[in-house]
Amino acid sequence: DASDIEKGTYPHYMLKEIDEQPFVMRRIIQKYQDENGQLTIAPEMIAEVINADRLYIIACGTSYHAGLVGKQLIEKWAKIPVEVHVASEFSYNMPLLSEKPLFIYISQSGETADSRAVLVQTKKLGHKAITITNVPGSTLSREADYTLLLHAGPEIAVASTKAYTAQIAVLAILATAAAKAKGIALDFDLKKELGIIANVMEMLCDAKEEMEKIAREYLSMTRNCFFIGRAVDYYVCLEGALKLKEISYIQAEGFAGGELKHGTIALIEDGTPVIALATQEHVNLSIRGNVKEVVARGANPCIISMRGLETDEDRYVIPAVHPMLTPLVSVVPLQLIAYYAALHRGCDVDKPRNLAKSVTVE
Ligand code: AGP
Repeated sequence: DASDIEKGTYPHYMLKEIDEQPFVMRRIIQKYQDENGQLTIAPEMIAEVINADRLYIIACGTSYHAGLVGKQLIEKWAKIPVEVHVASEFSYNMPLLSEKPLFIYISQSGETADSRAVLVQTKKLGHKAITITNVPGSTLSREADYTLLLHAGPEIAVASTKAYTAQIAVLAILATAAAKAKGIALDFDLKKELGIIANVMEMLCDAKEEMEKIAREYLSMTRNCFFIGRAVDYYVCLEGALKLKEISYIQAEGFAGGELKHGTIALIEDGTPVIALATQEHVNLSIRGNVKEVVARGANPCIISMRGLETDEDRYVIPAVHPMLTPLVSVVPLQLIAYYAALHRGCDVDKPRNLAKSVTVE
């Protein structure tokens, strides 16, 4: 649809694509529901998933970060072991494969050369592959045995936003469908949870002024920024840091809260911005302990937490969603903060230097 790729009243594609996320969630629900309104995946694909003894997720950049979240969902819900690999490393340093592996390629564009190189290798070894992509008919889609589409609409900005949340939503559907096929009972309705997430995403997209303020306050003068989190928040921190560095050129790094004391904390100086995510109850106290450690060394902390886990010191509180699906919402403030940081620095938000939308060379 041509109107899909117009910027309309938006100054940048990235901002438009961030705003489209609630709509994409609802479209995914629509596209993946069967005639009874249940979220499903084609039975032949699910058969491959549950017959595998291990899944190997292969991807690059933001798609790799979505894969990390997907691993957690598939292992916790469907009880299938999952490994997640950066494509460019996998092809030159292939791990020992299990007896019945299934490969899942995640690629917004479906054209990433590093991921394709692995697909060519694993096909040669006779292993089946599923591609999760936004582009029907793309190379990775054509060359895999099965395709799951993201239905996110064209993503034009180099910084991936709506594809990331679409990838996680599709992986969540895959995880629940595999659990169901294995007879594992889950105590929630994913369709309902994704509906709640779409609404929360909308509220977060309405918080642009607050995110712009955070960007101005924490990032306008800095040369670096750290993102810390534990458990699934750590994976979102990796994505938040990638967004910030690729469009604002601020050196940013995502760290597991507990790993700080093993080296990185040496970089904390007076005023160093540290953005901390606190959406997970079982690590809430420990991540807050990590915040205290960096504050004691002069850091300027910005805690983004989830309703129910918040304290007075938090800068922003996200409405509560299913605890396993928090990345779908916690990433939105980080996308917006990166956007405004880049904007304030006069950067070319949609076309950052040295980068291409899809990397078609190895
Ligand atoms: C994300 O913002 C990036 N520009 C980049 O990391 C991207 O996710 C990566 O190149 C993978 O692309 P793909 O999903 O099209 O394979």
